[in-house]
Amino acid sequence: MNGSVNIIETRGLVRRFGALTAVDRIDLDVPAGCIYGFLGPNGAGKTTTIRLLLGLIRPDAGEVRLFGKPLRGFRRESLARTGSLVEQPSLHPHLTGRENLEIVRILRRRPRKSVDKALAVVRLEKEADRLVGTYSLGMRQRLGLAVAGLGDPELLILDEPTNGLDPAGIREIRLLIRSLPGELGMTVFLSSHLLSEVEQVASHAGIVDRGRLVFQGKMADLAEMKGPGLEIRARPRDKARLLLAEAGYESVERDDGALLVADADEAAAAALARRLIEAGIDVSHLALRRATLEDVFLKMTGNGGERSSS
Ligand SMILES: Nc1ncnc2c1ncn2[C@@H]1O[C@H](COP(=O)(O)OP(=O)(O)OP(=O)(O)O)[C@@H](O)[C@H]1O
Ligand SMILES: [Mg+2]
Repeated sequence: MNGSVNIIETRGLVRRFGALTAVDRIDLDVPAGCIYGFLGPNGAGKTTTIRLLLGLIRPDAGEVRLFGKPLRGFRRESLARTGSLVEQPSLHPHLTGRENLEIVRILRRRPRKSVDKALAVVRLEKEADRLVGTYSLGMRQRLGLAVAGLGDPELLILDEPTNGLDPAGIREIRLLIRSLPGELGMTVFLSSHLLSEVEQVASHAGIVDRGRLVFQGKMADLAEMKGPGLEIRARPRDKARLLLAEAGYESVERDDGALLVADADEAAAAALARRLIEAGIDVSHLALRRATLEDVFLKMTGNGGERSSS
């Protein structure tokens, strides 16, 4: 396959729900053979975008191209080359895990052995002959991933694939996803609300905020942009924020009351701590930490990814 081809490409993609624009002129470029992390907080428009990519809903404007061809007109052909997992996997609870995979195998016209392979990849061999209705959430998620990856599709589109998995399960899936492009030449598009998670697997990233794509590029470029972050708990909070602002540091308030400052290094942390305490502010916690998606949002949009509850 031509290395310069975008396996997924959207131009001016728009989807509205009533007055809400859930997807607002999104232009995605997902190169062949990459792992693309599609990041954004709850309600940002990730699932809606993915449903548009899969032709599950229609855009109000714009275009989706998969494998270089418009989805309109080539949907069947493109989706035959694509495995997907969107929100809850659609599984038959009254059938076993193996039977669920068998149905998909027949539909996709894949060889018999692909079922055993898919079960092995997500480590469900032992539970394969149990009814899916008796599966735990994590087991269902694994089976959903097995369905998505059955028969090694060229493109995998996964909406929050580690949903419902425990830390060991998350790690396994991460290792698995990471191995796919090299081993099978797959392109993987996966959504997440955790930067830390995407960072560990993705080569490329897109960040969506309230329907808009606010960043797209290589993971390395994103890493460069974020810098270390500072987390502060102080009272009174408003006074602390004001003081930080006076010192030239923009902060956002997280839901749990902590203040986040992007782009503060060790020296800045020490200086700010002194300043706050000297101003008579009670500081109960002040720590440098790896930047999170919230910090990146703070830098890119100046709002920390906060949204009004709707
Ligand atoms: N069928 C629908 N009808 C009305 N509003 C919808 C519908 N689907 C999504 N929305 C709205 O569109 C916005 C984007 O939703 P979407 O599910 O795409 O977000 P998300 O990024 O996947 O969030 P999460 O991380 O919570 O899964 C939200 O405000 C949501 O309420
Ligand atoms: Mg979603």
